[in-house]
Amino acid sequence: MTNEPLTIESHSVEDTLRIGRAIGNALVGGEVIGLMGELGAGKTHLVKGIASGLGVNDDRIVNSPTFVLVNEYAGRVPVYHLDAYRLSDAGQLAALGFDEMCDAGGVVIVEWADRVKEAMPESTQWITLVSCGESDRRITINVATEAMRKNLSA
Ligand SMILES: Nc1ncnc2c1ncn2[C@@H]1O[C@H](COP(=O)(O)OP(=O)(O)OP(=O)(O)O)[C@@H](O)[C@H]1O
Ligand SMILES: [Mg+2]
Repeated sequence: MTNEPLTIESHSVEDTLRIGRAIGNALVGGEVIGLMGELGAGKTHLVKGIASGLGVNDDRIVNSPTFVLVNEYAGRVPVYHLDAYRLSDAGQLAALGFDEMCDAGGVVIVEWADRVKEAMPESTQWITLVSCGESDRRITINVATEAMRKNLSA
């Protein structure tokens, strides 16, 4: 039963933030999260929730790292937020110090991670967001841990 895909329906931005918080709360550091989903699917909002669950106490600082390519937030553990949308290849991710971030004991979250799949570690926890209506989103955690399930069912 454990470590199987888990799909959750979100019907609002608040739902997505809450789902993100439940996920972030279950993380301990050392995880790499790969987010997939089209433009506007809600990836950045999910990151806001995850960061909040990791103890980043102001989600206004959590925004798409479009120009700087990587944002770092101070939570229980460091949170590295990357967006691969504008990266042309996986080598550019490496140039940002991606491997060092993955080994820093923090949590690394990559939007558009499917664009740099080759560079993502084997252990990446993949989450897919699909838009299915103006404010409806289907969020699938590829390998949901016991702690995530517990938080999400609470
Ligand atoms: N249930 C929902 N969850 C998340 N966002 C929602 C939801 N319903 C509507 N939205 C809207 O969808 C948009 C999601 O934007 P967001 O920046 O989080 O997406 P994104 O996947 O990061 O996009 P991008 O690919 O441009 O980075 C926002 O405008 C938000 O208000
Ligand atoms: Mg985004």
